[in-house]
Amino acid sequence: MKIEAIDLAYRRYARGYDVYFGNILQPGRRAAIERMDCQPGDAILEVGVGTGLSLPLYPPQTRVYGIDICHEMLARAKARVAREQLGQAAGLYRMDAERMGFADDSFDKVVAMYVVSVAPDPVRLVDEMRRVCKPQGELFIVSHFLHPNPVVSVMEQLAAPFSRFLGFNPNLSLHDFTRQARVEVLERLPVNAFGYWTLLRARNNKQAGGHHGC
Ligand SMILES: C[S@@+](CC[C@H](N)C(=O)[O-])C[C@H]1O[C@@H](n2cnc3c(N)ncnc32)[C@H](O)[C@@H]1O
Repeated sequence: MKIEAIDLAYRRYARGYDVYFGNILQPGRRAAIERMDCQPGDAILEVGVGTGLSLPLYPPQTRVYGIDICHEMLARAKARVAREQLGQAAGLYRMDAERMGFADDSFDKVVAMYVVSVAPDPVRLVDEMRRVCKPQGELFIVSHFLHPNPVVSVMEQLAAPFSRFLGFNPNLSLHDFTRQARVEVLERLPVNAFGYWTLLRARNNKQAGGHHGC
């Protein structure tokens, strides 16, 4: 999907997003943040923060920065921060995760929840996550990947042409994604209903080089 199409899709979704994708995807958000083992003072970046459903889950002593391309989603995240007085939310910015304005090595941990199957170029997105993460930091990714069951995966592939309307690409293969984006997986856990989504904890292997050569 192109960035304009994503913006448009989530502009439409923003109003009902929490109702449709709040509770059902919350176990995956919770699992990712538990696995992040956030320490006091940690600087954390959440790319594609959406309406900020994850923000209350971060420990209060952390500094969490969130970015999203869709103004309407971000506005809801900002309203949540104000309403729930979430002191851990240090900044929310409208920004393309594939071209971030942050300096190299800015964050201890970088997380993308339900974003890599949405972003136009998941490889570039992961390159950017690596660049802004400190060398000893870790990357966390929660996503749906093409189902290993051939019957289910055929149905997902049939749905791929409708990704613009679904708001995500149901056709992303875990194997292809980790290989192409050079994700060095340390841990892989099934999350949410039926384990249909996957949580990846990955080393920040930025020394191996990337598009940006930092
Ligand atoms: C399925 S929603 C997930 C939102 C949130 N992470 C959650 O857990 O509910 C995907 C979000 O990623 C954002 N997004 C997709 N591609 C992006 C990009 N390249 N840069 C910034 N945000 C992006 C969309 O605008 C949308 O808000």
